[in-house]
This record gives sequence, structure tokens and C-alpha cells, in this order.
Amino acid sequence: MFARQAAQRLLEIRQIFRQSPQASRSFSTALNYHIDTPDNNPNIRWEFNEANKEKAKEILSHYPSNYKQSAVIPLLDLAQQQHGGWLTVSAMNEVARIIEVAPIRVYEVATFYSMFNRSKVGKYHLLVCGTTPCMIRGSREIEEALLKHLGVKRNEVTKDGLFSVGEMECMGCCVNAPMITVADYSNGSEGYTYNYYEDVTPKRVVEIVEMLRKGEKPTPGTQNPNRIKAGPEGGNKTLLSEPPAPRCRDLEAC
Ligand code: FES
Repeated sequence: MFARQAAQRLLEIRQIFRQSPQASRSFSTALNYHIDTPDNNPNIRWEFNEANKEKAKEILSHYPSNYKQSAVIPLLDLAQQQHGGWLTVSAMNEVARIIEVAPIRVYEVATFYSMFNRSKVGKYHLLVCGTTPCMIRGSREIEEALLKHLGVKRNEVTKDGLFSVGEMECMGCCVNAPMITVADYSNGSEGYTYNYYEDVTPKRVVEIVEMLRKGEKPTPGTQNPNRIKAGPEGGNKTLLSEPPAPRCRDLEAC
């Protein structure tokens, strides 16, 4: 019964995608589905620019010539940098050509790792952690605040091309949940950075967005002024004094 419902749901989703590729962006990026669009189809020629051709050569030189496929992740990363933060099907095909594998081998990697974006993202791609500790601490409200403030759906890009909002699973900051990551693609092919903003509130994420819009760089890390890095809120609670010396240093004599 469950399998039949799941198959039915999949058919419905495919139908939505066929009717509107844009609509697919409101689903999780984990839903890996490609529909040809005017700006993303295999007929569009894509190649590394001259500077990146040199970088690609350098990357390949790190691997034995019969293991070129091991360079798939750094080459996809380079392609994504060149293409403004996302990977077209043609870019993935070009990587497959360079490392001499079937394109599906590259698609498998690009669809598995959530740092690879397969649809357009904003210059600042805001990734809300959706895993349990962050969700319990209010990540849904964080996402709602961002979507409402920016007037977009999940994975849609704002009209000015500056922002998009996505979801990522646990980014290892659960102790300071909830948190978001800002993937900053504003430097173009110079490379991008990921900054973590932790202990965020709906109000704080909107402030962060507005600072980024003005070209400011909000300080990453915890946004709770009562916490130092990942320490307890309000200051240390343990190890407040010099620990006592061991009762006896000579274990044989004790
Ligand atoms: S659950 Fe959000 S960082 Fe771990």
C-alpha cells in the first residue's frame, strides 16, 4: 500500500516538473531531477575558461593518469565556481569528458553532495540546517522568516539575483542550534566561501541578509552575545578553578 502511494506521489511530482521546471526548485535540492530548460540543456556548449583549464590541468596532475576520475569533485567545484555557483548539465558533461567517464558517473556525484547546486542560486545562497536539533530549536521559523523577507520560495532566486534560500542537513554546529550557512558566491570565479551563523533567530537572520545586501560582512559564528564560540551560554560552568593535583603521583607507592 505504502509503495503504491509513494509511486503515485512520484508520478505527481514528475508531472509538476514537466509542466513547470521552475516549480521543481521549491522542492528539496535532494530531489534529483533534471528537466531541460533554455539555460540548462546538453546542447549548450560549456567549457572551462583559459585560467580554469590551467587549474584543471593542475588538479589532474595530482592523480595517476589511470585514475583521472578521482578528480571529479575538485573539477565539479571548479566548474561551479566558474558558472556562478551552480552546475549545468553541460558543465557536468564537460567534466565527464575530461576525466573520461560516462556522464552518469559525474551526475551521481553532483547529485549526492549538497554543496553542488544544480539550479541557479543567488550570490548569497542561504542554507538553513533542517536536521533534528536545529529543527527543535526553531529552524522552520528561521526558514519562514527568510522566505517571507525575501519574497521567494525555497530554492528560488530573488529578482535582483542576490539571494536564494535552500536547506542543508546537519552542519556540525548542533550545540549552537539553530544555524544557517551562507554560501557566498559574490566573488565569481575567484572562489567562494561558506560562513556559519549560529544561535540565529528569525530577527537576526533578516539582519544578516540586510547586512549582506549592503556589502557588509556580518561576523560568522555564534550570534548569541552571551556565548563564547561553542561554550555554555553565560560563561563556563565547569573547570572554574585550578584542578587539584593527583592524590599520588607514584602509583606503585600509593
Ligand atoms: S542539527 Fe543543525 S548543525 Fe547539527
